[in-house]
Amino acid sequence: MTKHPYVIDQMIGSAEISARIDALTQEIKAEFTDTRKLVVVGLLRGSFIFIADLVRQLEMEVEVDFIETSSYGNSTESSREVRILKDLRGDIEGRDVLVVEDIVDTGHTLAHVLTLLRSRQPAKLRSIALLDKPSRREAEVTADWIGFTIPDEFVVGYGIDYAQAGRNLPYIGKVRFTE
Ligand code: IMP
Ligand code: MG
Repeated sequence: MTKHPYVIDQMIGSAEISARIDALTQEIKAEFTDTRKLVVVGLLRGSFIFIADLVRQLEMEVEVDFIETSSYGNSTESSREVRILKDLRGDIEGRDVLVVEDIVDTGHTLAHVLTLLRSRQPAKLRSIALLDKPSRREAEVTADWIGFTIPDEFVVGYGIDYAQAGRNLPYIGKVRFTE
């Protein structure tokens, strides 16, 4: 897949992201007050920075696990078929689980992962997405918590990439193609 020339326009700054995570963690803590040890499941690779900030602000005992699904490849188009490339290491039966996604676009990824994890009979299963693009939704799914709702733009930064570029930007930026 060709990577087209582009520039990045900042959309959500790092201070804004951090303030939002602060507010979200208060709500998450309230939801899991009776949880002894929360299993926080990050969807690789886009959620790695979000999950790192989230668990540090949660101030509760957590176990961190990861699951990786097949993604866009290097294209900006979503593929409908979701495959598990790397499964969880731990057993989630009877556990309280929080799935952490970077961005819900068509929703196929989150819908597939939630169905899979639900089949393993966790006691409680919740999900959080840093970003949500509701206008692109094809699968019927909504994360329990959403950081920011954004328009139909291709974004990078704060863990999210465009063909493996832009992941380590401290802010969320909109990709603007210049050709
Ligand atoms: P969905 O299955 O269509 O909801 O897509 C989910 C995945 O596509 C996300 O976890 C991202 O990895 C990727 N994705 C969706 N939108 C964007 C974007 O704007 N920039 C980068 N990756 C994206
Ligand atoms: Mg992803």
